[in-house]
Amino acid sequence: MSDLLVRAARGERTERPPVWLMRQAGRHIPEYREIRETHSFVEAVTDPDVAERITLLPWERYRPDGLVMFSDILTILEPLGFQYHIESGVGPVIENPVSGPDDLDRAREPIPERLDYVGDLLDRLDDRVGDRTSLIGFAGGPFTLASYAIAGEPSRNHLPARKFRLQHPEAFERLLDLFTEAVAEFLQYQVAHGTDVVQLFDTYAGVLPPADYERHIVPRHREIVAAVDAPTILFVRNMNGRLEQLAAADPDVAGLDWTVEMSDARERLGDLGVQGNLDPSVLFADRETIRERTREIIEAAGPRGHVLNLGHGVDRETPVESVQTFVETAKNFQW
Ligand code: CP3
Repeated sequence: MSDLLVRAARGERTERPPVWLMRQAGRHIPEYREIRETHSFVEAVTDPDVAERITLLPWERYRPDGLVMFSDILTILEPLGFQYHIESGVGPVIENPVSGPDDLDRAREPIPERLDYVGDLLDRLDDRVGDRTSLIGFAGGPFTLASYAIAGEPSRNHLPARKFRLQHPEAFERLLDLFTEAVAEFLQYQVAHGTDVVQLFDTYAGVLPPADYERHIVPRHREIVAAVDAPTILFVRNMNGRLEQLAAADPDVAGLDWTVEMSDARERLGDLGVQGNLDPSVLFADRETIRERTREIIEAAGPRGHVLNLGHGVDRETPVESVQTFVETAKNFQW
């Protein structure tokens, strides 16, 4: 049983930091790109056979301490009445976004039934590698999901969602509540299917002004974290000026983007576990630089409660050798 990731995520001292990468199963791996030539993104996500193959690609190449299921934060939209696809060159597109404040009461389907392919995938992964690495489940956070549901596509600084919160404050709150409840249920479902650690990706919530974040986001993150019976990593970008608001949700681990100085985060967050936070662009440097920068982060984070990761997803152009170097640096480290 390899529980290094779980121990670090619980805040324990570990002999070295566990390591995984956000987006480790994506486009930087040649075999992923091959699979995507014959399967659309939604097909790959909803077919447990394909999703299992993709999830295992980084396992075969890097042997990370955590395997993040191949899926997407947008899957939860489907049982809530939204259809989506990924459009090349654009990104996620919601076919029927929220058209106004009266468009929230859509026909819903039960999450475990509609998303049974996720449970299937997790069961298979648990059978295949569950005793050799930790399984990481995830969900999008309420603001990030609301931003897609409102804008219908990626939007600059999430202006449509920020406008909607002022023009339709009650509907905005209701939409956040809808996603909060659904995400809590979905994460519980993932834990029931063998997930060891979960990450809540409210990637974009950091575009809100601090007072609005405090009011709309912190209580909902708290609610989700409290509902999940597994160590939880909370990842929000652009929180360097207010890391305390990440901590206020009471996650087990604060996911840090690369704009945060690790030693500074340790000072400000006390005993809270931390994840991150190598700038993904460092993986375009030479091997020695990658090793040095990675070790600097490990040393700044210290031996207790640190999960090594990038500060956001691995870029699609990243050389696989660089990812290898990054993972090996963690594995060769010893406190
Ligand atoms: O390897 C992993 O980390 C696991 C799988 C994973 C994906 N998306 C696969 C994916 C995870 C954890 C996500 C999270 C996700 N998805 C987030 C949150 C965090 C983040 O990284 O910002 C968000 C906002 C999404 C929504 C989404 N889905 C985006 C922004 C994109 C990229 C669109 C693009 O064209 O670049 C997707 C599609 C997506 N999800 C891909 C992958 C591997 C790329 C699909 C492809 O072109 O093959």
